[in-house]
Order: sequence, then C-alpha cells, then structure tokens
Amino acid sequence: MTLPWMAAKIVLRLVTELRPHAGNARLHSADQLEQIKASMLAFGFTNPLLVDEAGELIAGHGRLEAAAALGITKVPVIVLRHLSAGQKDALRLADNRIAENATWDQALLRDALAGLQEAGEVDLLAIGFSRDEISAILAAAEEAVIDGDALDEQDDADQVAENGGGAAAATDDAEDPADAEPEPPRAAVTRPGDLWLLGEHRLLCGDSTDATAVARLMGDDRAALLFTSPPYGNQRDYTTGGIGDWDALMRGACGHLEAAIAADGQMLVNLGLIHRDAEWQPYWSGWIDWMRTIGWRRFGWYVWDQGPGLPGDWNGRLAPSFEFVFHFNRAARQANKIIPCRWAGHVNSEKGGLRAKDGTVGEWTHAGQGVQETRIPDNVLRITRHKARGIETEHPAVFPVKLPEFLIQTFTDEGNLVFEPFAGSGTTILAGQRTGRPVRAIELASAYVDLAIARFRSLHPDLPITLDGDGREYDAVAAARGVTEVADAA
Ligand SMILES: C[S@@+](CC[C@H](N)C(=O)[O-])C[C@H]1O[C@@H](n2cnc3c(N)ncnc32)[C@H](O)[C@@H]1O
Repeated sequence: MTLPWMAAKIVLRLVTELRPHAGNARLHSADQLEQIKASMLAFGFTNPLLVDEAGELIAGHGRLEAAAALGITKVPVIVLRHLSAGQKDALRLADNRIAENATWDQALLRDALAGLQEAGEVDLLAIGFSRDEISAILAAAEEAVIDGDALDEQDDADQVAENGGGAAAATDDAEDPADAEPEPPRAAVTRPGDLWLLGEHRLLCGDSTDATAVARLMGDDRAALLFTSPPYGNQRDYTTGGIGDWDALMRGACGHLEAAIAADGQMLVNLGLIHRDAEWQPYWSGWIDWMRTIGWRRFGWYVWDQGPGLPGDWNGRLAPSFEFVFHFNRAARQANKIIPCRWAGHVNSEKGGLRAKDGTVGEWTHAGQGVQETRIPDNVLRITRHKARGIETEHPAVFPVKLPEFLIQTFTDEGNLVFEPFAGSGTTILAGQRTGRPVRAIELASAYVDLAIARFRSLHPDLPITLDGDGREYDAVAAARGVTEVADAA
C-alpha cells in the first residue's frame, strides 16, 4: 500500500494568508504558547502546518499563533487537497487525540532529560515540560542515583586527589574484591524461613519485624552492635516490592531489640536523603522520636562522606556525596582507637598541650607526654562508595564492605556479635568475616539471601554453608529443590 507523501508538498506561505478553523476544539494556554515559541527558537520550524486549499488550518493552531507572536512572516505548510470536509474535521481531532494516547517510559524519559541537562546544550524548557515537571522527573533520577541505581563511572584520578588526607583506614580507593559481583543463582534456592549457617555467621530468610524470627536467629546470643541500612523511605524497587509504611517497618524491626542487642550494645543505622516535592524529607523524625520513647537515645549523628559527587546539574542542588549514620544506645561504649595518629610518638612540650581554665598545664592535659599511636575515628566516615560496576548491579542499595568493617572495628571487639536486620546482599556478613565478628543477619527476599550466599562463598569457598536443622550443604539443598545452576564458588 502506498500513501500520499506529503513532505514533498511542503510550501512556504505567508502567515497572513492562513486562518484558524473557527470550530477548533483544541485550546492553547498562554504557557503552552510560550513553550511552542521556545521550541521554535531552539529547533527551528520543524513541523509544517496542515491547511486546506483555502488556507484554513487543519492542524497547527498553536504553532501558527506562536509564529505570529515571534514575528515570523512565512511558515511551512502542507496543503491537503484530498480530504472531504468531514475528513478534515476528523483529522483536526485525530491529530491531537492520537498523540495524547502515547505514554512515557519513565526511566528512559528521566535518563534522556538528565542527559540533556548535563550536556547543557538545550534549554530544557524548550522541550515542553513545565519547570515543575522537569524538577520532579530529575528529582526522581537524583534519588535513584543517591540510592546507587544509576551511578556513572567517575574520574579515578579526581577521586584519589580529592580523597587524599582523609581518615587513614577508610579512604582506600582501590577496588575491594569483596565488592565484586558474584554470579547469582539462576533460580532461588532459598525459601522463606531458611536459616543458613555460613561459617560462624547466620543468615535467616525472614522478616526482621517478626519477633519470632529474631528470637530464632539470636537464641540466647546478644549482639554488641547493630549495624544496618534499612530501605530509605518508600522509594526502592526491591525484589520484595516497595515499603508501604516506613515508620511501621522501623518500629516493627526495633520493637524487639532486647532480643537481639546486649544492654550496652550500640545501634548504628545508615540512611540517605530523599527529595520529594522539591524538598528533602526528614522521614526519619517520627521513628527517631519513637526510639527515644522505648529508651534508645539519639546518641550520635555521623556523616558518611562517599567521595566525590557525580557529574550532573542536580536540579540546582550540589552534587550528593554523603549519607548519614544515626547512632543510638542505652549506655555508651568507648569507641576503639583504630586510626593511626600522624604524630605518633611525638612528645608535647612542657609548655604546650591543653591548658586548664586557669592557664596552667598539668599532667592530665597531656603536657610532656608522647602522642598516642592510634586515636578514635572522626564523626565523618570517609569511605568511597561504589561506582555501579560490581555487586551493586545485583542489589540496588549495597554499601561497600569497608563501611560495616570500619564501624565493626570501631564499636566491637573480636568475637563480639553483630546484628544486621536488613541484610540485603550480605555485605555486613562479609565485614564480620573479615574482622572476626560473627554476624546474625535477616533478609526478607530469598533472591538476596542467595546473592549473599553467592558473595560469601566466592570469597570463602572453604567455609561450609549449611541449612540449620537440616545439616545439608547449600549445593545439596539446591539440588534437592531442583536448582542445578547455582553460583560457582570458584
Ligand atoms: C538498603 S537494603 C540493604 C543493603 C545492604 N546494606 C547491602 O549492602 O546489600 C535493605 C534490604 O532490606 C530488605 N528488607 C526490607 N524489609 C525487610 C524486612 N521486613 N525484614 C528483612 N529485610 C527486609 C530489602 O529486601 C533490602 O534487601
């Protein structure tokens, strides 16, 4: 079938020779006319008007009005001579209505707008979205990036330069093999309720808001430290779906802490910013207030400096490069001195050191004493985050192993237990293995439990992974459940 090829019939006509259709049902607001004008200025007159033999418009009323407002005297038109009066009326409606029936692929739209914004060549307002719409779409992109879904490669040289001089133990930019991406199982081996024993660690596929699940995981053990990164607000696309009520989730998970944490245990929770309606949201406030009512003080508040931010305009904000760690407790525990002191061994002069209120320098003010070998960490944790090329391509919110490793070393001693109620891909378990602290972890999603096991066994192929109460090894359980292609431990 061949259709008339109208592009060959484009002609230039004087604006004054054209007239709008009196019964045009399509309305063009002043704002939309501004958008059409901006588009014409940005891209030229790329879409000819459709007119009939008499110069009456069939399609393009907004474009004609915008052209006239811009002082354009001649516009490209296609004269449609083959349509009946009824067909012209129908096309006037169809031309607008059919276009309205298309929808957007939100992810691609977001990427396209973010790319255009970054390139900076075209004014985004020329595209036809309002300023508020663009803000909302790009804010969604920003949240995705903050959560680690869309991180770009960064200039490693910049990173090294910018991170130089940070906290010694925490700023190594080299790729951490523990953050590499394991080969995930093709089908889920783990089933809800499975409690896996990974070396001396335990990982339960269950719900951390369920007191029975936590009691099963912990038994009589109590952890010296809870470190976790729960879902941030409501936004993430986990395999288990989004979080409906964040306060309820957190209250649920923190409602039975006495079954998991020792009386002098510390609780550190990593949370990132969420922006909504063009504002950052203090979504943690209600939960933190509630924590105080059950005896958990908001003891410390730390910043996780994730290294240099990502390229982009960020909607008028500065490039995001930090998250928070909230520290709760019921009794303080002195942080371990794990940071080497630059001036270790240097002896303060008798006149130097700290002075008492009256100006005197006494022994307790360290005068005449050598600087210690190590000190406690800063309340800014300088640990470079992932760059979207390792394990975080498998789980949307993985933190680097160095983050739990650093905090475990700071707030526990070897052999102390660590509790992780939102285990994700098992990063805290890997940190526990590295530091000699057994981890007790819960993860809701079977697929992430399998992922955590895949990560663990790829790093520690010699350690047994068995099902509690059953004794079979992971591969045997997989085979019994009909899953033959599991991650290779090699
Ligand atoms: C922010 S991610 C943790 C990522 C983890 N830090 C890592 O490095 O892989 C939060 C995890 O909590 C899990 N989750 C959500 N609700 C849960 C619940 N009620 N009990 C246990 N896990 C839950 C999600 O499936 C998700 O894997």
